[in-house]
Amino acid sequence: MTGDRKAVVVAIDGPAASGKGTLSRELAARFNLAHLDTGSLYRAVAAKVLAAGQDPKDPIAAEAAARGLQSSDLQRSDLRTPETAQASSIVAGQAKVRAALLDYQRRFAARAPGGVVGAVLDGRDIGTVVCPDADVKLFVTASKETRALRRHKELVERGDKATYDEVLEAMIARDRRDSERATAPLEQADDAHLLDTSELGIEQAVAQAAAIIQRQAFSEG
Ligand code: DC
Repeated sequence: MTGDRKAVVVAIDGPAASGKGTLSRELAARFNLAHLDTGSLYRAVAAKVLAAGQDPKDPIAAEAAARGLQSSDLQRSDLRTPETAQASSIVAGQAKVRAALLDYQRRFAARAPGGVVGAVLDGRDIGTVVCPDADVKLFVTASKETRALRRHKELVERGDKATYDEVLEAMIARDRRDSERATAPLEQADDAHLLDTSELGIEQAVAQAAAIIQRQAFSEG
């Protein structure tokens, strides 16, 4: 942070494989903002629970993993597996897990590391719960078929043998769990801009989002 200027906070929410991760990284680089992929926190909690042979539905195990989370856990090699993805959505449904991760996310937003002017946080509840006062909120989405195609391509490139239908089915199950849970479900904040990336390439999506951020967070007056 420079001087005592308030940190700029950009909140980006949306379902799995909507393009919000790539978009967030590109926007953070363009505006010199730090980036926190909050999904990786839930994935790390889930990966720790699975690696310990525990059940992600076990609230005591999941809360303990969340409370004991270390920055090294965010570098685990098993964060992107389909098993971790499903388990992350299960641990994310537990209020105590969410409470344990809230402070870290808010501190990151208020005082982003690395001498930058602020932060981009992406996830499911950034604009609604973690940073309701964010300067800019985007809700990034795409049709479920587009998202499943993207995720399938990603998995195949990594050597995974999952079929498109399996990926689509797993994605629908995760969407449902993330949207229907009682605590901080995935939903568009009232003041979020909707960005549907179904028909957009990454450059077009970045250009549209950047124009909104420029106007809302960096224009004087
Ligand atoms: O964005 P992702 O697919 O890496 O997220 C993994 C899971 O974590 C997702 O299914 C739901 C949960 N999550 C959440 O509940 N809240 C967030 N802010 C980010 C992710």
